[in-house]
Amino acid sequence: MPTEGNQAQGTVEFTREAGALTVNATITGLTPGEHAIHVHENGDCSAPDAESGGAHFSPEGDPHGAPTAGHAMHHLGDLGNLVADDSGNAQLSTEDDELELSGENGVVGKAVIVHSSVDDFETQPDGNSGSRVACGVVDMTAEPLDRG
Ligand code: CU
Ligand code: ZN
Repeated sequence: MPTEGNQAQGTVEFTREAGALTVNATITGLTPGEHAIHVHENGDCSAPDAESGGAHFSPEGDPHGAPTAGHAMHHLGDLGNLVADDSGNAQLSTEDDELELSGENGVVGKAVIVHSSVDDFETQPDGNSGSRVACGVVDMTAEPLDRG
């Protein structure tokens, strides 16, 4: 759901099949260009600016970084960047071999937040990725969502 003053919204689906966790994000209403997307530690989008979501999800206290940076070189919640087209639509499809659905590294009950700016993968602790334009809490569902 969009935060106050923003139009960004969409769906992020985490699916566990064999092997890695699959992440599929479809977001609309963005400004064209790159936007950071992270799993944040608190499943709380109640604040108008989504600051209630807290910091990036990082159960082991790793530094911020790129999702490809390797074990202990990025927050578990660092999912990278979405690229929005000229119409503001973005899709991301990736796999993550450290995140889980539930348990210590689990995404269920955490918040997924999309940002106004690109994640530079270097600036601590948040990649200098700007304000929070959309926020949603991850729920467990038995079946994949209908993306019809
Ligand atoms: Cu974030
Ligand atoms: Zn991070």
